[in-house]
Amino acid sequence: MPHLTRHIFICTNVRKPEDPKGCCTARGGDAVRDLFKQLVHERGLKSKVRANAAGCLDQCAHGAVVLIYPEQIWYGHVTPADVPEILERTVIEGKVIDRLLLTDQPHLAGLPRA
Ligand code: FES
Repeated sequence: MPHLTRHIFICTNVRKPEDPKGCCTARGGDAVRDLFKQLVHERGLKSKVRANAAGCLDQCAHGAVVLIYPEQIWYGHVTPADVPEILERTVIEGKVIDRLLLTDQPHLAGLPRA
């Protein structure tokens, strides 16, 4: 069994267009997931990093939502343009990208910043 250093969850939940909560798929979640998977493969990280589609992470207004373990880093409003930076700075280097953070994450205070 591989020992993973990071696990990336990307919300790809789908709701009907008339649902006021909206959903991450309507905000590009599928493209974000696909690009994470592609880049993890291209960078040869598959034995250390997993990128998985997730169901609703209960932050629907901030989609597309990405949650990275083990630090439990919540990023919101993520687009495919953000994915290479997240992979490089957070997944590989372990640094937090402040501009993508959802608010109220005091558990990240001691982590290095990108
Ligand atoms: S639909 Fe993505 S967090 Fe709820």
